[in-house]
Amino acid sequence: MSPLCSALRPAGADSAEKQNAEGRDRHRNITDRFFLANGTSEENLKVNFINRDGETLTATAKEGESLLELVIRHHLSIDGFGACEGTLACSTCHLIFDQKTFDQLSPITDEEMDMLDLAFGLTKTSRLGCQICMTKALDGITVRVPKDLSDARRDQVEQQSKQ
Ligand code: FES
Repeated sequence: MSPLCSALRPAGADSAEKQNAEGRDRHRNITDRFFLANGTSEENLKVNFINRDGETLTATAKEGESLLELVIRHHLSIDGFGACEGTLACSTCHLIFDQKTFDQLSPITDEEMDMLDLAFGLTKTSRLGCQICMTKALDGITVRVPKDLSDARRDQVEQQSKQ
């Protein structure tokens, strides 16, 4: 830190900085544990997203990372994607896969199925991005973002306000 910055530091800044460093270490430990349990922390899997406007967005993923986490971490510009942050309450993370990729995905749960029923433009190969975790077998996949989205939470609020 420059002398000017340290002259302007408020009282207690050292302690706040120490707390921040401890927080960072704690976060790193949690992240390391997650990837030890769920895969590697190496970012070596590729995913292509065909966005609503037809533009292809490419990002590198870590094994075990969900497609929602990938979109957020890379700040991919997909309008409205992941509004409920992966709590299975919105269906805005709806993605469409090709049949070959779809057949390799983890089994779908009843909760995901219920939320998918509310998704815009549902297809036979639709899944929710917050429920799909990257594996080596999925390296290089291309997924399509539907032309529009529906947010189950917003739709519910609108219905209630009409009643
Ligand atoms: S982010 Fe809301 S259901 Fe996936």
